[in-house]
Amino acid sequence: LSVLSVASEAYPLVKTGGLADVVGALPAALAPHGIATTTLLPGYPALAKAVEGAKVVHRWPDLLGVEARLLATRLGEHPLLVLDAPKLFARPDAGLYDHPDDWRRFAALSRAAADLASGAVPSHRFDLLHAHDWQAAMAPAYLRFAPGSGPAAKSVTTVHNIAFQGRFDVAIFPELGLPQTAFSVDGVEYYGGVGYLKAGLEAADAITTVSPTYAQEIRDGRFGMGLEGLVSARRDRLYGIVNGIDPAVWNPETDAALPAPYSARALGRRIRNKRAVESVFGLEPGDGPLFTVVSRLTWQKGMDVLSWALDELVAGGGRLALLGSGDAALEAAFVSAAARHPGRIGVRIGYDEALSHLLQGGADAILIPSRFEPCGLTQLYGLAYGCVPVVARTGGLADTVIDANEAALAAGVATGFQFGDVSWDALTATLTRVMALYAQPERWCQLQKNGMRADWSWATSGARYANLYRSLVEQT
Ligand code: ADP
Ligand code: GLC
Repeated sequence: LSVLSVASEAYPLVKTGGLADVVGALPAALAPHGIATTTLLPGYPALAKAVEGAKVVHRWPDLLGVEARLLATRLGEHPLLVLDAPKLFARPDAGLYDHPDDWRRFAALSRAAADLASGAVPSHRFDLLHAHDWQAAMAPAYLRFAPGSGPAAKSVTTVHNIAFQGRFDVAIFPELGLPQTAFSVDGVEYYGGVGYLKAGLEAADAITTVSPTYAQEIRDGRFGMGLEGLVSARRDRLYGIVNGIDPAVWNPETDAALPAPYSARALGRRIRNKRAVESVFGLEPGDGPLFTVVSRLTWQKGMDVLSWALDELVAGGGRLALLGSGDAALEAAFVSAAARHPGRIGVRIGYDEALSHLLQGGADAILIPSRFEPCGLTQLYGLAYGCVPVVARTGGLADTVIDANEAALAAGVATGFQFGDVSWDALTATLTRVMALYAQPERWCQLQKNGMRADWSWATSGARYANLYRSLVEQT
């Protein structure tokens, strides 16, 4: 089966968050199940090296008003197609998103994907189109309302985060190249404007999201962000498939970013990584747990609540090494906490892939107090690295961490800590629980080992995607 996976980022070429990790890992996750995946990405400047000498396999003289070419190259061992449209994507000093013409940039990506998925390029044919998030979500809508000349492939839309919807003014509709009939409640119309994610949820043959709990949550007004009605109406086509981790990138035994690689049998070696974290973050050694945060600093991630609880974290004997960037006010709050607690709290504002590995390999526990979390990957990396996850009970965090309550500890199955409300009370109470267990080295070590021995590879989820693809393609 041949699948076109369309997204706005993919590790290791372009990454702003977990979407890139998942899109980058899917081809290898699916290959053992007989699925050949080709990834389609926008031709950002970051891809310049990857497309050097690449073959031009198609040209569009007018793709939503701009000239574009399709370049064929490779993403690791798997095929990669790059939409080379310099007017839309060659913007060297800008971020990936939030451009005033995002509607055109990502409609063009989606139009190109739909062309490919209806046979426009004979050398590249696909049975199924897999669109990730709003940036690719118009592709299923194009397939439905304005397919190319050949038979249209089946389609899947995956929601990695329903908070990002790609909503635009109605004025763009005439530029999208869709028939007027597409501007309807069953089409791309959304609260009087155009909704890209909405369109992709409506038009795809199936919808997936990245954990079973989030699949339930987005059927409800508290999490659906306006799309709960549509998601509920399509619930028989909705699947929650939890993300896995790519063992080629996240494995403490082989991780080149760690001064001392280790396994569950040699956890003692972690101390060298911890010392390295302390030295990078200017922390004094201490007896209590070394917490870490590797995160976007946003409201979604509950970072405001965490910033209020830092004095308690330090008073209880904890230390914190934080790596993140995001909202200016939150960045400032953490920087000022570090100034208040020198040697106890260290903060690095920025994005640093290697440092994120060192933190997982050296810290004792990773804090993830998210208000919502479709899947979350940093808790999975924490589990694999013996960096015990301390998480809010929501979305994929609820599905992947087993709380260290007395019963779970006695049964030998606990892997981390969960709490209900994202509030100061719940978080500080949980920090107290963490410190108490950390003071019992044998039980703590058991917790680490339980997490490390769990299987967070793509084996199960790869099979789930493959089964879903097959069931759709076999349907007539
Ligand atoms: P989200 O995609 O919502 O941000 P995830 O937990 O799914 O959350 O994925 C976040 C990804 O980005 C992980 O790979 C994490 O390690 C990485 N990450 C987040 N912030 C940083 C940072 N400041 N530096 C390096 N990596 C980061
Ligand atoms: C989104 C979500 C995150 C998820 C990631 C990959 O960024 O916020 O929870 O892990 O996508 O699916």
